[in-house]
Amino acid sequence: MTEKLLEKKRLKGGSLSGTYFCVDGAGTAFVRKEVSLKDNREYGFQRWYSQLKRLQRYSQQFPGLFPGVIKFGRDGDLAYFDIEYIGGSITAHDYLLEHPPQKDIEKMLSVLLDSMGRMHSIQFPSTSAAMDLYVYEEMEQKIGACLGNSRFQKLIAQRDITFNGKRVTGIYWAIDEFKRCIKQSYINPVECFTHGNITLENVLYQPDEKLITLIDPYEENIIDSKLAEYSQILQSSNSYYEIYNATTPSVSDSNVEAYIEIPPGISCFNKLFFKHLEAECTKEELRVVRLFEISQYVRMLPFKMEIDEDKMELFYCLASYLFSDLLDTFSG
Ligand SMILES: Nc1ncnc2c1ncn2[C@@H]1O[C@H](COP(=O)(O)OP(=O)(O)OP(=O)(O)O)[C@@H](O)[C@H]1O
Ligand SMILES: [Mg+2]
Repeated sequence: MTEKLLEKKRLKGGSLSGTYFCVDGAGTAFVRKEVSLKDNREYGFQRWYSQLKRLQRYSQQFPGLFPGVIKFGRDGDLAYFDIEYIGGSITAHDYLLEHPPQKDIEKMLSVLLDSMGRMHSIQFPSTSAAMDLYVYEEMEQKIGACLGNSRFQKLIAQRDITFNGKRVTGIYWAIDEFKRCIKQSYINPVECFTHGNITLENVLYQPDEKLITLIDPYEENIIDSKLAEYSQILQSSNSYYEIYNATTPSVSDSNVEAYIEIPPGISCFNKLFFKHLEAECTKEELRVVRLFEISQYVRMLPFKMEIDEDKMELFYCLASYLFSDLLDTFSG
């Protein structure tokens, strides 16, 4: 590739792909996402590829909701795609960290719900048998993918783990109970068009225009349900994925400590979002949302194992803690 860029600046690192802000020879800004064609293809290239294909389709199907794909190709050992740069935007997560007034948070939530609603309104019937496949593929297989890791072996060798001083059963040992709970509650199996990885970090917000653009969609979800989408929002607002992910946890012998401060903007958003969920969902659906929320932390374990083993331990223990806590609320 012989292309001259006036600027190329890394926006975010740390994962298996790299995202860059670029300016081409004509002065036009765009975003490039690169991934290795050689290393870690399963958690790198496959994931990048599924994003590219969703972006191509969805930017046509839902105009204005996703950045358009400008081009994609190969640069030596890297694959890349270029997408429109959304100027004046910040992630919904960063927006909430600024602690905007409640009425501005309400507005952002309402734009987010409308944006999700555009995708979720295209529905198709599904089957409750799919949940068995989901738990197998997205939880049991993902745990299985970590079993060769010596730190993970140590973590699951004992039944209990400690997360921030609370001793609970590790989710590896509670997976049958998890399966029983989620299958019992998944009684209205409807699927729909989804983003697939809609954490608040993957929602770009332009506060002046009150516009939302979604980035980082993801294909491999087994069950494309609005309940899974809501669970990914909760991952950000209720179990603080981004905040935990930015910590340096202290990790030793099945004991993880990661103390965080909860930003008031996030708490406010979470309260408003729960109010919406309680109005829209049945009791069973809400249970599925909360169980999906926990499953998100299990699904990510092999990715974390590849890039940061401390985070693998952190999220295993967080998932275990969240499940134990949820069981208490179910029985309470
Ligand atoms: N089209 C865009 N316009 C403006 N900013 C963008 C755009 N795409 C990404 N960004 C910025 O770059 C950051 C990282 O982008 P992205 O979410 O695609 O990467 P990532 O989370 O590292 O990817 P992945 O989760 O797929 O590994 C975003 O949080 C956002 O701030
Ligand atoms: Mg992202």
